[in-house]
Amino acid sequence: MPSATRQPQRDLPLDESRAVMRGNFGGKSGKEYHDGWEAMWQAGNFLPWDRMVPSPALADTLNNHSQVIGTSKLVLPDGTTRRKRALVPGCGRGVDVMLLQAYGYDVVGLEYSGTAVEACKTYARETENEELYKARDEKVGKGSKIYVQGDFYANDWLERAGLGEYGKEGVFELIYDYTFFCAMHPSMRPAWAKRMPTLLASDPQANLICLEFPTNKPAESGGPPFSSPPKAYMEHLSHPGENVPYNDKGEVRVQPLAESGPGALERVGHWQPANTHQIGKDAEGKVNDNISVWRHR
Ligand SMILES: C[S@@+](CC[C@H](N)C(=O)[O-])C[C@H]1O[C@@H](n2cnc3c(N)ncnc32)[C@H](O)[C@@H]1O
Repeated sequence: MPSATRQPQRDLPLDESRAVMRGNFGGKSGKEYHDGWEAMWQAGNFLPWDRMVPSPALADTLNNHSQVIGTSKLVLPDGTTRRKRALVPGCGRGVDVMLLQAYGYDVVGLEYSGTAVEACKTYARETENEELYKARDEKVGKGSKIYVQGDFYANDWLERAGLGEYGKEGVFELIYDYTFFCAMHPSMRPAWAKRMPTLLASDPQANLICLEFPTNKPAESGGPPFSSPPKAYMEHLSHPGENVPYNDKGEVRVQPLAESGPGALERVGHWQPANTHQIGKDAEGKVNDNISVWRHR
């Protein structure tokens, strides 16, 4: 459990929360949009996504869905093994990075915000030895972790993560997207969908795991977080880089007969996690989020 000094911030009433988000991101695009995140981290007084503990849906996936996602062990063609490399893009305070490390993955936590990277390092120092982040399997042990500042859409951070030699090859065997897709303005989704397959290793043991959130938010209410129902992930990851059509309410239009585009990922698993953060549940406590798992074809 987080200590008293590490309590998540309270949620603002919806109207106030939307006004803060509009102030930071409304009408902005490209670098200006990204800089809105750094401004929020620097202000530090409204980080509504920052729960201070790892995603329960990720823990559920790692504990109960290894038949789909495997484990942290990668088996190489010659039969030898090594730890899988994992990426958490837009890792925030790095809580999910630390969970993956505890499950034996070698993890890169990527953040556009330099202030967030510093917050990751401080949080790691304070919590590293807590029960929450102990190695889940003593025989496997903990993997490594590194936090790097960089833009998901650029390549320079791979160098800083010690992975520059991989160039254009997909280098990660696990990518965990939580509140990253929904943090993007919908106009950035084609670029998000084009980038994911280039970072994901072309190996049947390599998985992109998306925690689909928010699934029930009306699209016209804007964001971030922007409405992200399963069909949005499906249409974009089936057509990387393409301008997927949206209707005038901002909802994705499903094209069931359209052929997949080059580099499309295939959805190999889709379920509702046994648990998720409170924000992903309805008033009765029923989980609204989904986990989707994607692989190269
Ligand atoms: C909504 S927050 C979610 C943080 C974290 N996943 C969590 O759940 O606590 C989105 C994060 O993505 C980061 N971000 C936004 N655009 C980015 C980009 N292009 N490259 C890397 N990080 C980015 C922001 O700085 C922000 O911390």
